[in-house]
Amino acid sequence: MSDGIGKFLLSSLGKKLIMGATGLMLVGFLIAHLLGNLSIYGDVEGGSSFIAYANKLHDLGPLLIAMEVGLVALFGIHIWMALKITAENRAARPQGYAYNNNFGKSTPASRSMPYTGIAILGLLIMHLIHFRFMKGIAAPEAAELHERVIDVMKNPLWASLYVLLAVLIGVHLMHGFRSAFQSIGVNHPRLNGLFKRIGVVLAILLALGFASFPIVAIVAWRNM
Ligand code: HEM
Repeated sequence: MSDGIGKFLLSSLGKKLIMGATGLMLVGFLIAHLLGNLSIYGDVEGGSSFIAYANKLHDLGPLLIAMEVGLVALFGIHIWMALKITAENRAARPQGYAYNNNFGKSTPASRSMPYTGIAILGLLIMHLIHFRFMKGIAAPEAAELHERVIDVMKNPLWASLYVLLAVLIGVHLMHGFRSAFQSIGVNHPRLNGLFKRIGVVLAILLALGFASFPIVAIVAWRNM
């Protein structure tokens, strides 16, 4: 890496660029993750469609491991940059308007970015313990995973925490999606409005999609 690029990436603009770019990649993961999980509705009792989906993922073998490592790196870098930027903003502006939404106005979603982010991280750790590390480091069998999703989602305590996670993802993306485009330097008056609308629609669809599992489980899977 040349000195110039290194310096830029460490600058405040560089950090924002990295946070925006990793954030958009994480949105890509969330869309794929939701679409994959929706397969559970194909055959709730037998689990055939979810099991087929999970097996396809597991069949990727080393590629899946590479994707998991990439995902950890994306989350890690995104959170690290967010912490640095938040600390710098606090130091520069100890009181008052610590968060604005890049358009000069702050909104509840933009002001709460660090808090929704930290809460998502906490719930993500719970989630990984539920589904990824239930049998240690090795990935669980697809059929076990299907049973586990139903069991966890129909438990009222876990169900409420998963609804909370879905809402937090929605609120985080309500500001985060369009802000990411500003941070990576896509900033045009006509495009900004478009990204804002796409961000709101995407935030609502992802929140509804993820919340659907615990809600449907509590309403319809209770006796399974
Ligand atoms: C209620 C909605 C959700 C359900 C039913 C669900 C289900 C699952 C399942 C079954 C797995 C294990 C996949 C496997 O090993 O084959 C998994 C992994 C994972 N989930 Fe979720 N998930 C949900 C929401 C979320 C959300 C909102 C996030 C992000 C904040 C997320 C992030 C992850 C990550 C990072 C993994 C690990 C992927 C891997 O290591 O392969 N999930 N999820």
